[in-house]
Amino acid sequence: MRLTVNGESREYSGDPAQPLLWFLRDDLALTGTKFACGIAACGACTVHVDGAPVTSCVTAMAGLEGKSVVTIEGLGGDAGDHPVQKAWAEANVPQCGYCQSGQIMAAAALLKAKPSPTEQDIDDAMTGIICRCGTYPRIRAAIRAAAGLPVAVEGR
Ligand code: FES
Ligand code: FES
Repeated sequence: MRLTVNGESREYSGDPAQPLLWFLRDDLALTGTKFACGIAACGACTVHVDGAPVTSCVTAMAGLEGKSVVTIEGLGGDAGDHPVQKAWAEANVPQCGYCQSGQIMAAAALLKAKPSPTEQDIDDAMTGIICRCGTYPRIRAAIRAAAGLPVAVEGR
């Protein structure tokens, strides 16, 4: 089967049940996408499939024929200059960094679908992506900055 990863056509002939995460990390050496829970509970492994965020640890290769996958490596290219990545750097969001590619991919998908998200939109898009370091306030600030919204939110 063929699929596109970060704009490049790729061939896959392994087990159809294998999760996308291992194709990315083990076969393509795209290790920016992290493995944490493995059961779609933490969001660390989030990538885009045809523009939508998915948890790659539970997304089987069988369903990806002809699809377009984008990982953190492909989001802003080598320069890492996607508006969300730039806002992340500006807000100095990460602590340990382990969850951050998943956070950024979820935020980028949100802003593509909703360029001016409400607080509820941000909550809905980001609640599934867990950060054990507790960077949530800076994540919210970076998303608002990337959207061109005032960064400070009353009561948060
Ligand atoms: S590793 Fe995929 S959701 Fe946690
Ligand atoms: S920055 Fe450490 S888990 Fe999120």
